[in-house]
Amino acid sequence: MRGRDLISITDLSTPEIGLVLDTAMAFKDAGRQPLLAGRTLALVFEKPSLRTRVSFHVAMRQLGGDCIYLSPPEVGLGQRETPADVARVLSRYVDCVAARTFATETVAELARYADVPVINALSDSEHPCQALADLLTIREKKGGLRGVTVAFIGDGNNVANSLCLAAALSGMHFRIASPGGYEMADPVLRKAEALAAGSGASVELSAGPEEAVAGADVVYTDVWASMGQEREAGARREDFAGYTVDAKLMSRARPDAIFMHDLPAHRGEEVTAEVIDGPQSVVFDQAENRMHAQKAVLALLLGEEDAG
Ligand code: CP
Ligand code: NVA
Repeated sequence: MRGRDLISITDLSTPEIGLVLDTAMAFKDAGRQPLLAGRTLALVFEKPSLRTRVSFHVAMRQLGGDCIYLSPPEVGLGQRETPADVARVLSRYVDCVAARTFATETVAELARYADVPVINALSDSEHPCQALADLLTIREKKGGLRGVTVAFIGDGNNVANSLCLAAALSGMHFRIASPGGYEMADPVLRKAEALAAGSGASVELSAGPEEAVAGADVVYTDVWASMGQEREAGARREDFAGYTVDAKLMSRARPDAIFMHDLPAHRGEEVTAEVIDGPQSVVFDQAENRMHAQKAVLALLLGEEDAG
């Protein structure tokens, strides 16, 4: 995987996803390893972040490397300077770029012009690093991925897209229930269905939350209004009525089902406090796994030899 970009989760094959997860587990067990001493990661962010920014920074430091954060006004992607020029300049200084952008085309353009690996740290249509941490968490909690049923309740957004595609690559059963007008985009669904056909996975659009969670191993939700959609938040609260993950909905899943959320969460909207703060919730293990999964990604994209 050395030298590659990670823009969509589908940039990784099924065996490569397995390698990332195995490497992440090895790092989780081993802790700090100075594999990337002398290397620098630049974080170029157009949107806010807690988990992604801190977990990349700490991951890089624990691997012996360094990290530089460039905030939205500092870099001015597409305003102060074109993504192509930013990519070519950063390539002269740093060894890797992780970018959080609005348009996926912006991070894709950075990747096209950079001479160093570019990682999508969330864009409007994908969040591949989140999906890797999600798979790591499911594998830890459920003992494997193949045959596990994930029910995603809510917006067919970036997190849903990457999780759906990751599930399809991993032989999982992915169901999603979204209100009308908020379904996952057709091209992503078609791509996931094509991948699922080769891996024994399945992708299903459910008629509603109850149908989606029936007998599920994992119940997953995300915010109703993503970053950049703040002005739609009021309308979305109305449109998503009935899509809150509450204890009654959770009771339709398997008794040993886990609750997942990429965070930040809005208690009382997409999930009740009782569920996200309850015994089935694994959201903070999931957040921790962002760091282990990203250590694996960094080591595999930048390392001199096999990591782990
Ligand atoms: N889940 C996630 O990406 O969180 P941040 O937006 O805080 O990075
Ligand atoms: N869908 C959310 C995920 C945040 C990590 C957003 O894009 O804002």
